[in-house]
Amino acid sequence: MKIAVAGTGYVGLVAGVCFAEVGHMVTCVDVDENKIQLLKSGVSPIYEADLERLMRKNYDEGRIDYTMDYREAYRNADAIFIGVGTPERPDGSANLTYIAAVARQIAESIEKECLVVVKSTVPIGTNDKVEQFINDFLVNDVHVEVASNPEFLAQGSAVRDTLQAARIIIGTESDWAKEMLMKIYEPFHLPIVAVKRRSAEMIKYASNDFLALKISYMNDIANLCELVGADIGEVAQGMSFDSRIGSRFLNAGIGYGGSCFPKDTKALEYLAKQHGYELRTVKAAIDVNKEQKVILYKKACKRLITFHGLKVAVLGLTFKPGTDDLREAPSLDNIPLLLENGADIFAYDPVGTDNFKKLYPEGRNGRGSITYVERPEEALENANLCFIFTEWGSIAALKPYIYQKFMKTPLVYDGRNIYDVNEMRKAGIEYHSIGRRQSFTPKYMITQEELRIGRKNIRNQNKISN
Ligand code: UDX
Repeated sequence: MKIAVAGTGYVGLVAGVCFAEVGHMVTCVDVDENKIQLLKSGVSPIYEADLERLMRKNYDEGRIDYTMDYREAYRNADAIFIGVGTPERPDGSANLTYIAAVARQIAESIEKECLVVVKSTVPIGTNDKVEQFINDFLVNDVHVEVASNPEFLAQGSAVRDTLQAARIIIGTESDWAKEMLMKIYEPFHLPIVAVKRRSAEMIKYASNDFLALKISYMNDIANLCELVGADIGEVAQGMSFDSRIGSRFLNAGIGYGGSCFPKDTKALEYLAKQHGYELRTVKAAIDVNKEQKVILYKKACKRLITFHGLKVAVLGLTFKPGTDDLREAPSLDNIPLLLENGADIFAYDPVGTDNFKKLYPEGRNGRGSITYVERPEEALENANLCFIFTEWGSIAALKPYIYQKFMKTPLVYDGRNIYDVNEMRKAGIEYHSIGRRQSFTPKYMITQEELRIGRKNIRNQNKISN
């Protein structure tokens, strides 16, 4: 089939490449000329496993192309997939400007019967409006219908999530639209759930918000675990054996980030409010997440008198491993607070530093400063304390003794529960994490004096005076 895809972000580009991979003829459209040039040269503007390989393969085999010329791309397409962004407005509602712009271009361009498929996450009822809008502005007298086909890809595994999706949701209002989408997805050999359009739109929000809720629930329980002396890791493990609960998305930490959960929870809460309904469960998830993101910073504030003059190692900047995306990453909540309070930050991230530098250029910033380093050891070298914000493989692979060896004082705040509490204690590290008993003893508690001149120096001084 001849497919056009509007938008070459995570949703559009991955969908386009995967459609080409299963044999469709695909044209991806974007308004950004640089992006189109980059794509044509086989380079992906986003960091995503396996994407570039498939881009090049399908481009070389002539099944995918990229263009700014939307008229040409849409003119005689059998189906046009819309995968442009629906960013969050300050009030939490979804901004549909990009969807409207594409709908207008489609209305002006199509010359034959066409199915328009909305992949972007949109508030319930938007597909109805898009269909009306296209029909209102239609230049040629052709049949056009809109279908909803939300995606469930996670960043870092987007290609696999698309080619091996747990399910394909198609929301249609006619048999013609349903059959068209069935045909497009036939070569994927995946389970297809065909529902009405509004249900499809809701499935997307309800699924994402459920996962956000699941994480926030575990974070809430983790905070309680600390107070009552239970261990969230053990609790999660015990819960996971109940197949009704499942084993995934039970990891407590410093909150969910990324482009979907924060946006989709707020959008659904806003939508409910518009209908005079308070979506209390989702609101609770949003509230827990907001506080969770800075929970370690607050713990550190209580523990230390000041960050002024302290070297702070930050390991991990992106919202999760496997992506260079910083959207809603906990690092963005914590770094400004640390800088405001005079910390000299040495930050390491295997792929996220270039993006982070654009927001926080290297050098002095407020009362503190930020320096970017290539290796985690460089960040840890002579550091007074360390925050772990992302569980990248290169960070999780650091053995406990590395912190002891490199840091001036081995004080570690781990937002991703990477380490075993007892192993960290054995290695002589004062270790704070989420939802676990802080099993360090007074012996491991770092004193203010040690923070100032370093643990090893204190030991050496003691030896000399003895
Ligand atoms: C998510 C959904 O998984 C995907 O189906 C949807 O289409 C888009 O949103 P994504 O945002 O890419 O995908 O990442 P995901 O792996 O789901 O993680 C989201 C956030 O939750 C990350 O910040 C992650 O660190 C956090 N998380 C995840 C936890 O804190 N604990 C967990 O157990 C799982």
